[in-house]
Amino acid sequence: MIPSNAIHSAEDARRIARRRLPWMVFDYIDGTAGLGTGAARNRAALDTMTLRPRVLRDVSERSLAAEVFGQSAQRPFGIAPMGMCNLSTPGADLMLARLAARYSVPLGVSTVASTSMEEIIVEAEGNAWFQLYFSGDGSGTFKLVERARAAGYETLVLTVDVPEVGRRPRELRHGFKMPFRIGPRQFVDFALHPKWSLTALAHGKPQMANFLMDGYEFDRTESRARATWDTLARLRDQWGGNLVVKGVMDPEDARTAKAAGVDALQVSSHGARQLDSAPAAIEALREIRVAVGDEYPLFYDSGLQSGEDAIKALTAGADFVFYGRILQFAMAAAGETGLQQLWGVLSDEFSITMAQIGVTSVGDLKV
Ligand SMILES: Cc1cc2nc3c(=O)[nH]c(=O)nc-3n(C[C@H](O)[C@H](O)[C@H](O)COP(=O)(O)O)c2cc1C
Repeated sequence: MIPSNAIHSAEDARRIARRRLPWMVFDYIDGTAGLGTGAARNRAALDTMTLRPRVLRDVSERSLAAEVFGQSAQRPFGIAPMGMCNLSTPGADLMLARLAARYSVPLGVSTVASTSMEEIIVEAEGNAWFQLYFSGDGSGTFKLVERARAAGYETLVLTVDVPEVGRRPRELRHGFKMPFRIGPRQFVDFALHPKWSLTALAHGKPQMANFLMDGYEFDRTESRARATWDTLARLRDQWGGNLVVKGVMDPEDARTAKAAGVDALQVSSHGARQLDSAPAAIEALREIRVAVGDEYPLFYDSGLQSGEDAIKALTAGADFVFYGRILQFAMAAAGETGLQQLWGVLSDEFSITMAQIGVTSVGDLKV
């Protein structure tokens, strides 16, 4: 058990997670494409941004409430879709689902989640968006859309920045594969992290749970390269609910997606896991805000490590933001308690920053 106040920042969560997780799992979650320059660029761009202190404006009453697709959320931030979260700790997907339910914030449910989309949306009390990967010839993809509809999903997030899975040397080096094989290298790694290994084994090997059902197959490494704007148009025709396109980094792509009837875009460099040379996602966000106009809904993720970072993204043009891997680190560090601690930290950081810059509502952050 970690002390009840061990996590004071996302970096604390990462440091504890690094000690507890097998190297293979830590490097799968933390790893980036290529040399990691994309991640460094994301960090540097956020660090370069400043927020100007404003004084003497009664900021004693502050609200972190926001609205997304017409629904009230208690925070202006949610949970990015991540595959195989139960590798961080058993039951992680459902911990995230309960968090989403408690704060009425959206939880992105990955195509390759380690808990089925049906179970997650129930635990999240409806606060769940299904994230879709196109793959192969697309027939499996459109079947998943029907399944998501039947499960009660109202928002679909099409991730478009993975035409091929980026080369992530840190996970490749450990032989990370889904479903994973336990060869001699992994055996040593797991033996050196007995606490994780025993708990994980007791709960069974995490699996891509949406594909345990007959008629559903997914190969994580299969090419997703055949998706085109026509695929998007087909999806738009088939899906009457909210449609988000995630992983847009170019203003022209953003305008085209908007014209195709997409309801919102998620500006994201996939947490720097795809194109190492991509521009800083926060810079792309600014350009895309100009391209799509003031009123069009824009979401943001990539590299956010604090409440202050979230405020920066909102001031750079996002309407709502998402945290990714830091939430997995919190669960790896201390399970659901760790997740709640980090969520509390992010909320405090956000609220205190609001006070420092003299605003009392999330709407005031919009430029
Ligand atoms: C371990 C891991 C798995 C991920 N799996 C998915 C996924 O299945 N689908 C998806 O659209 N994005 C996936 N992402 C990307 C996230 O949705 C998000 O874009 C990214 O994590 C945000 O960056 P951050 O981790 O720096 O906050 C994954 C990210 C991580 C770290």
